[in-house]
Amino acid sequence: MSLLLVLPLAACDSGVRGTPGGSGLHDPYFPKAGNGGYDVTHYDLALDYDPAHRRLTGTAVIQARATQDLSAFDLDLSGLEVRAVSVEGKDARFSRAGQELTVRPHDDLDEGETFSATVRYSGTPRTVTDADGAKEGWLPTGDGALALGEPVGSMAWFPGNDHPSDKATYDIAVTVPAALRAVSNGELKSDTVTGGRRTARWHVGEPMATYLATVAIGDFEVETSTLDDGLPVYVAVDPSLAAASAPVLAKIPEIMEWAQDNFGPYPFSSTGAVVDRVDGVGYALETQNRPSFPAAPDTTTLVHELAHQWYGDSVTPRSWRDMWLSESFATYAEWLWAEDHGGRSAQQTFETVYRGEGDNGTDIWDFPPGRPSSAAHISEAPVYDRGAMVLHKIRRTVGDDAFYDIVQGWAAAHRHGNASTADFTSYVEKRAPGKDFSGIWRVWLYGNGKPARP
Ligand code: TRP
Ligand code: ZN
Repeated sequence: MSLLLVLPLAACDSGVRGTPGGSGLHDPYFPKAGNGGYDVTHYDLALDYDPAHRRLTGTAVIQARATQDLSAFDLDLSGLEVRAVSVEGKDARFSRAGQELTVRPHDDLDEGETFSATVRYSGTPRTVTDADGAKEGWLPTGDGALALGEPVGSMAWFPGNDHPSDKATYDIAVTVPAALRAVSNGELKSDTVTGGRRTARWHVGEPMATYLATVAIGDFEVETSTLDDGLPVYVAVDPSLAAASAPVLAKIPEIMEWAQDNFGPYPFSSTGAVVDRVDGVGYALETQNRPSFPAAPDTTTLVHELAHQWYGDSVTPRSWRDMWLSESFATYAEWLWAEDHGGRSAQQTFETVYRGEGDNGTDIWDFPPGRPSSAAHISEAPVYDRGAMVLHKIRRTVGDDAFYDIVQGWAAAHRHGNASTADFTSYVEKRAPGKDFSGIWRVWLYGNGKPARP
């Protein structure tokens, strides 16, 4: 840097030199996640995976727009070996430190300029262990692999701006041995076999957060269909789980219809599910378009993950502190599904959870949903169940009609975008003038400890 500063100004086109983009977005829980100085608009990923050697070869072409004059910018990438980087077709210098891949383009980028960066890389992708001990990133399976990215696992298999606030469209092409299949997000545009290798090309036309990107490689039974309204359904199931999954997956049309009645128009161009056999992964994930399940799902989990398509995937938390905006809705969807299908009412579920008889092992009163105690605890009961209690309190305050207007209006207002907790509380207040939510926010959303009897 100091060397550059002594260059005469005439050496630069504009007379103003760019500065490096930030190496993180200051997320309160994952400060290094994401990068400053640019916004990604599109990822074009071409991946080749050899399960026998667990070797991934990838080319990522990233279209982005500079949000400042840039002399350098970072991408997040964990592990793997970078072979070459170019920006706007010209070779770029790069260096690596931890999860930061720093790219120094041949020419500075101007604020507002759109550019493309190409990264060629290869290696054995990592399984990431999160602060809470959960496994994500690249997860080898008996017959292939499953990639899951919440919260920071996508950087284990492609370079990018790995933070929920920077959503982009994607093309994901995956080449695998011809006997296997590769399933990803979005819609399958082509599936071709040449020379013993099979390439599936997936297109994601609606913005997607990096943590929702997935690839499932292996032997799958694939079923395609359409809903009554024409929406394509793509379901891929590990053959050993097909029988156990079938009765639950058969409910996808019914759940989708119910969810649209309650949450409004479905935000994406296809739906479905991936059921794989992944040891050591104890959670399902709301991967965009088709949630991923590490074993045969039950109906409640399928409802939860499909509800996330509206809340989480379309309306995405702005930072990891806002995660309750995603998990509260998905959990409350479970309560509503039960209420609408002959189970407990949401009020009964609320009371059961309040009494501490929920089935979730962690203590729901450990911290408030709006402020998780640390990165190790973002996937715990206060975010899920107590978050759902916040929504139930809102429902009780405004009544059912206004409540459904609010949940649908919220999904519409931030469709394909990001939203923060402050956006949500002010939205609710605006939609229910004259109602007082201050106690709900103070006690249920932000208060420490167990609130006094509701
Ligand atoms: N967000 C997922 C869901 O609720 C679950 C999840 C993802 C999770 N990563 C986790 C749960 C880690 C526990 C630990 O659908
Ligand atoms: Zn969830």
